[in-house]
Amino acid sequence: MGIQIAPSILAADFANLESEIAQVSDADWLHVDVMDGHFVPNMTLGLPVFERVAQVSPLPVDAHLMIDDPDRWAIRYAEAGAASVTFHLEAAASPVRLARELRAAGARASIAVRPATPVQPLLEYLDEFDMVLVMTVEPGFGGQELVESTLEKFRLLRAEADKTGADLWLEADGGVTRETIERVVDAGANMLVMGSAVYGAEDRGAEIAALRELAKDDHGS
Ligand code: DX5
Ligand code: ZN
Repeated sequence: MGIQIAPSILAADFANLESEIAQVSDADWLHVDVMDGHFVPNMTLGLPVFERVAQVSPLPVDAHLMIDDPDRWAIRYAEAGAASVTFHLEAAASPVRLARELRAAGARASIAVRPATPVQPLLEYLDEFDMVLVMTVEPGFGGQELVESTLEKFRLLRAEADKTGADLWLEADGGVTRETIERVVDAGANMLVMGSAVYGAEDRGAEIAALRELAKDDHGS
């Protein structure tokens, strides 16, 4: 699986979502952050808005649920049109059961960890997931600086997946920019969320092309 670019609409103009989404159609996924004001100290949008976003998006939607009680809510996002649903390990009561439910609903099942949460407990049941999202900043807000120590998690997860030959996607979320993208890819991430890096640019399509070029792992060789 090659590099996947997933612009985050957290950095878009929420009053003009449909046109903001159309401007990133050269990317691979649309990353939609759902925050409930409990799991993280910020709120974004819920199911009704999410459903419309999924309907108008030309790209498959990558739902990132930063919410309490995903065991109850995650399936609703799959039903509302998410092609991939990520819930947090710290919030889930039964992560394996929830991942199985998501797959049964036809979505890719993905689990996320905050910067301070180790990934070792996931290693025993990695095959239950299609993707692991490693938070490379504290979840809740865009525009933060990458926490370099989180990159070690990609190396560990990539080595583990390679042992079994599993096609595990590794998503980096937070602080991925022109400056950090090469290090993030070198560490083993292949799904790159970018909010401010893409939406902060005047020409979003050109910025996606430039970021994609930087992410190619043959740079410098
Ligand atoms: C933060 C969100 C991210 C956010 C990333 O909690 O999960 O998806 O949009 O924003 P940037 O790319 O600006 O760090
Ligand atoms: Zn996110």
